[in-house]
Amino acid sequence: MPRVNRPSVAAVTSTWERPGYRFDAEGVASIPASDFGDPAVYERERAAMFRPGTGMMYLGHDLLLPGKGHRLADGDGRVLLTRDEDGQVRAVANMCTHTLRPLTDTSEFVDKSCITCPFHQWSFRRDGSLIGGREITFGSGDEGAAVRASLALPSFEVLSWQGFHFGIDPQRRAEYELDFQRISNDFAERGLSDHLNFDGWTIYASEDTHYAADWKAFLEVFGDCYHVPPYHPGLASFSDCDTLQWTFGPNYHVQFLDLHETRGGGSEMYTQWVQGLERYAEVRGEPMSDFAVAWLGIYPNIMIELYAGLRVLSIVIPTGPDTHINRSHYLVPTDMESVVPGLPNVMKTAFDETGVEDYVLIESRHAGAMTAKSLGIDIESYHVNLSGPAPEAGTAHFYEWYRAQLAR
Ligand code: FES
Ligand SMILES: [Fe+2]
Repeated sequence: MPRVNRPSVAAVTSTWERPGYRFDAEGVASIPASDFGDPAVYERERAAMFRPGTGMMYLGHDLLLPGKGHRLADGDGRVLLTRDEDGQVRAVANMCTHTLRPLTDTSEFVDKSCITCPFHQWSFRRDGSLIGGREITFGSGDEGAAVRASLALPSFEVLSWQGFHFGIDPQRRAEYELDFQRISNDFAERGLSDHLNFDGWTIYASEDTHYAADWKAFLEVFGDCYHVPPYHPGLASFSDCDTLQWTFGPNYHVQFLDLHETRGGGSEMYTQWVQGLERYAEVRGEPMSDFAVAWLGIYPNIMIELYAGLRVLSIVIPTGPDTHINRSHYLVPTDMESVVPGLPNVMKTAFDETGVEDYVLIESRHAGAMTAKSLGIDIESYHVNLSGPAPEAGTAHFYEWYRAQLAR
């Protein structure tokens, strides 16, 4: 069985360093319980993190924008993603400049050359420029052109990587480009670059799950591998937490894990997953890899979960100080259902088994933070925990990123 390339890793310390970036996990303070479920903090987060143009916010993937046309951004009804004749993807405000009403409220992909407002039929090109309005003139010559230009849909800077599209602060483009280069390098040096290529993959299902918890609790849990062995019997028997390797950049972290030697033996669904993968590899004449998963979190709002055989794009959508939605897009290889009938459903069922467990973990974290607040107790939550593979380093890294965004 081929081994995944494993770069030699120095003994874990509290500091991770790479060219141009350093993360000292021990130097990070956790987010205080008082910042959970707080309306004023939530408003600051919305302004500093969940607004395209102020940081880096995921808006959609090519799989959701399958041609030339437009659709709502993935998880944000304020923004439209468009793809033009030349293939360029843009983000514009979903806000007609006539009376500021939304231009559309559907997440369906619209295969049209222009965006027409349903209310008074003003229409816009996919670059946001105004074409015209029903029975209205905007003047002629330079003056008319200036009026039209002022009525274009406001647009946001977009940075695209591996089919993902992000609304970014243009001043920080170089920083984000460097981060994406780092992610690509992290995968390349492990022989895993294929896992960032979505050609030949298709959306099998998309689901929204509603949580009664501050969105930050979801990110905390995502960066915490410490809970996997004691809390997820199925997942822990599939991905071997003793092989955990971290990589970090200013705006992301990745956890790489190999397949556990019990090969999913902790749950019937995970067992079937590995057996199905073996069958899939056999039919295709490919070796079975010992790669289990890479969990890639790009702050603030997307977690890209790249399992052997299954990929899940997991979007966190805050809906209030103490509620959020997690949107999951489940992706499988286009030929998988025909090669191993039923395998996509097996993998999704196994993933959801773990998701139900995490649901409790996330809501209980929020409930605990509310208890601490109401009792006036102030205790550091999470610990850097540098023993072994430092299984909580991702949570500390999220804290560091979060504090930096609010301080800007
Ligand atoms: S609100 Fe869009 S055309 Fe009037
Ligand atoms: Fe979990």
